[in-house]
Order: sequence, then structure tokens, then C-alpha cells
Amino acid sequence: MFGQEKSEAWQNICSVYEKYKNINIRDLFTQDPDRAKKYTLVLGNLLFDYSKNRINDEIMAALFALARDCRLEEKISAMFGGRKINRTENRAVLHTALRHRDEEPVMLGSIDVMPQIKATLLKMRKFSEDVRLGKFCGYTGKKLTNIVNIGIGGSDLGPFMATSALKSYWAKDINCFFISNIDGTACAEVLNNINPEETLFIVASKTFTTIETLTNARTCRKWLVDALGEHAVANHFIALSTNREEVEKFGINPKNMFEFWDFVGGRYSMWSAIGMIICIAIGFENFEKMLDGAYAMDKHFAETDFEHNIPVILALIGIWYNNFYNIHRYCVIPYDQYLKYLPNYLQQLDMESNGKTFTFENKPANYATGPVLFGGAGTDVQHSFFQMLHQGTEIIPVDFIIPAISHNEIGNHHRILISNVLAQAEALMKGRSADEVASELEAKGMTKVEIGKIKNYKSFSGNRPSNMIVLRKIDPYSLGMLVAMYEHKVFVQGAIWNINSFDQFGVELGKKMALDILPEIEGMYSDIEHDASTASLIKYIRKIRK
Ligand code: F6P
Repeated sequence: MFGQEKSEAWQNICSVYEKYKNINIRDLFTQDPDRAKKYTLVLGNLLFDYSKNRINDEIMAALFALARDCRLEEKISAMFGGRKINRTENRAVLHTALRHRDEEPVMLGSIDVMPQIKATLLKMRKFSEDVRLGKFCGYTGKKLTNIVNIGIGGSDLGPFMATSALKSYWAKDINCFFISNIDGTACAEVLNNINPEETLFIVASKTFTTIETLTNARTCRKWLVDALGEHAVANHFIALSTNREEVEKFGINPKNMFEFWDFVGGRYSMWSAIGMIICIAIGFENFEKMLDGAYAMDKHFAETDFEHNIPVILALIGIWYNNFYNIHRYCVIPYDQYLKYLPNYLQQLDMESNGKTFTFENKPANYATGPVLFGGAGTDVQHSFFQMLHQGTEIIPVDFIIPAISHNEIGNHHRILISNVLAQAEALMKGRSADEVASELEAKGMTKVEIGKIKNYKSFSGNRPSNMIVLRKIDPYSLGMLVAMYEHKVFVQGAIWNINSFDQFGVELGKKMALDILPEIEGMYSDIEHDASTASLIKYIRKIRK
């Protein structure tokens, strides 16, 4: 809440921080042989080891007290209970209903939302099965094997990440493509490689007004009509949206529209009709398994005490570093090729949700909110930014993710991959002192003078924190669990920072200004006054494009 840092719970953490700010994780392991066991939680096939953090029981207790002080339990119930917690947009936040897998109703005011969700799921099942079986086919009777998702942000990143993550479950004859960027190259690179007769375009847009998506969709529509004629559109275009009117205006028959609702935020929508390309690629039963996994995490989150609650602990550890150590960076590294787009997905989830300044009290937060999130696939990123993780002046907490079993157990690749992820976490935590470096080099016969020149450069400060998340295998169920875990982590942090994690007004200003600049780039003048830099850039680019 505003004035958060003045609350007793917050002040208590400040004192705890002063007491323990220099604790060393390596020492904590020496002092407590049970530490790994104590700070590990298992939920189904997901293991969460948070022992390599700068935490102890007293720190965790203070963080749990902060969560209670912020009425986290009440806020969790409010979300699951369909209360309008997205206050700036006056909307409920019920993406959890999309994966609600038992018979109880989910109420939004006096309405149970489950019948409409189940009806859409049924429609998705029928359509995806028909496409996979070739029953819903192209205008000329050919099977639709190129599935192109046109969408951006939440209407792209979730489907893209999940279909990539579950590639080993794709039907053999199906190929998925994604067009998101307004850059014509994004369209060209897909259209140049597909055949219109075998292509299904899925226009995915919650609002159906997003300029990137509509521009890309119009280009694809024209490409199809030029090849097969106007009548072909009904066989080759479907829409996923909340906006029936705009879908019709665009020229897609509402029969070919799959609906979702205002209570589903864009970045929380891959569980809804927005997941259509996932369904077509992996089959509806596998899609349902993904929902089952997310539901298992939802239940765990809603029903487990904070002390054993994975998303709550993940979030509180993030707050410990962000608000008390003043570390405003956070890194997620999946050691799995199929999960390589997870960091991109999490960037929107985390940074669009919690990159906010104003609290629910309409006052600027006097503490840091969402951190910068980045990442990439291990081991690739070991050879790019890991230098900084190990020896930079900035401390960057890391989440490592690894499946115990690979979908491609070729030779010893996966054993090498596992060795690497475990080694990186251990190296970050243990480090290597200059003295340790010196003894090693001495044993190799180096002179004292030579050692003196090099030992600092080869030393590692250590005490760098990380979480380890181990999944059995990257399957639909565990992917569902993993993504829901991060959604709830983001929710808990937003709840503690007292910000609305569910609006995104921050993306609007630039969008509006782009519309003002467009006529000027197109050679017309507008009456908008620009700063000198923007004005001269417009002039310069126009001259080149003449
Ligand atoms: O980036 C802003 C945003 O509104 C996202 O929240 C959303 O996921 C994306 O644009 C796409 O919006 P739509 O699905 O309405 O096209």
C-alpha cells in the first residue's frame, strides 16, 4: 500500500535486512545440513528448490508477515471469487476460470461463467479436431496444414511460447507460423513459405482493434483473396476475440469466431480461445492436460498456507531482493530448447503487469515495483551474459528451469545439459576466492608474481542467489503448472506492492503518437508539433525514402 515502507511489517524486514544483509549462502549450507530439504517444495512433477537464496527462517517469517499484513489471502480469494480487482478498468480477473476443472460454479456477480467457458472449449475441440482430421478443409478441398496465428502481445506470446514448448506433441503434418510484428518482413517471411490452399489464418485479438494485428490480417486476407478469390475467406480465416462487431466488420463470419471475455487479460489468455493454435498443433486432449496442470497450480496457490506455497515463496524472495537489497533485475533461464521463448513470454507477463508507479491509493509508490526480467535458453546464454552474472558488479537473482528427462535423449546431451545447470547454480552460490585461485595456480607451478597479476580476475565473489525448478519432462501438464506458477508469482508481488497488475495503460501513449506521425511519414503534414529531434528524424527519413 502507499506508505508501504512505513508499515510495521515492512519496517521489521528493514531491521531483519540490517541484521542479515551480509549473510553468505555457502555458510548457511555449512551451518544447516538440512537446508536443501527444508527449502525445497514438491508439487506433482514440479520441484522448487529455493535453498540457494540469501534467506533463513527469520527472513522468511518476516516476509510471510508482510504478505499477511498486505491481506494477501483476502486478495487471492477476491481474484478467484470474481471480484473486480482490476479496478482501473472495472473488471474481474478470472483467467483461472478458464482452467477450472471441477463442477463447482465460478461466479462473476450473479452469473456462473463456466457454461460459456465450457461451450467455447467444446467448440474449440470440434474445430481443432476437424482441422486435424481434414474435415474442415481449404476452399479447394485441401487439408489445412499451415496454421498461421496473427496476433501480438498476449495474443501471440502465449500461443507462440506454448506451441514451441510442446513441439514434440505436434501432429506430424501440421506446421505453425506466427505473425506479430507490424514490420512487413514478418508477413513476407511467412507468406513466402506457404501455399494459400493449405493455410488457415487465425486472427487473434482480444479487442480486434490492434493496428499491428489488423494490418497484418488485411495483408494476409488480400494475399489469400488474390490467390483463391473472396469466397475462400470463410474456409481460411477464423477469429479469436471478445469483439464480435469488429470481427464482422473485418469480414470474418461470426460462425468462425471463438469467443473469450473481458475478465481474461491479454497476457493471461493462452488458456482461452487464444490457445486455438496450441489445440490444433497438439490436439485438444493435450490442451486439456495443460489446463489440468494450471488448475493443479491454482488449487495449490489458493489452498496452501504461505509457508508451503510455491508462487507465494517465489514472489516473496523476489521482493526481498527487489525492495531490500535494491536489486531490480531478475533472470529466468530454462535449460530446455523447447522452452527458449519462455523468457519472452514472462517479460510481458511480469513487466506489463507490474511495471507500474501508481498504487491503488492513486499515489506514486515510494518503493520499487516490478524488476527488469530477461533470460534465454541455457547453455546458449552461458556464452553471452553469464560473465556478468558471475563477475559483474550487479547481483542478478536467477530462476533456473530444467526437465529431468528430455524429449530428445540423444547420446549424453541431456546429462551434459543437467550438469551445466547444476554447476552454474553452484558456481554462482559458492564462488571462488582469490586465495583459492592462488593455491590452484601455485599447484600448477605458476610463480607468485604471475599469480598476483591474475588471481583477482579469476576469482568469483559467489553468494549469488538462484532458484532451481525441476520438471519431470516438458509436457502439457507441467507447462500448465509452470506458467500458472509465474502468473501467481506476479499476482502476489502486485498485491504486496499494492498496484493493479491487470491494466496496461503504459503501452498507449507511444501507440497514439505513432498515429500522429504516420501521415507525416506518408508525405502529408499534420499540425502536431514535435521536439527538434523527432522533427529532424522525420525529415531525414522522408528524404531517404523519396
Ligand atoms: O501491449 C498492449 C496489449 O494491450 C496487450 O496487453 C495485449 O496482449 C496486446 O496489446 C494485444 O491486444 P489485442 O489482443 O487486443 O490485439
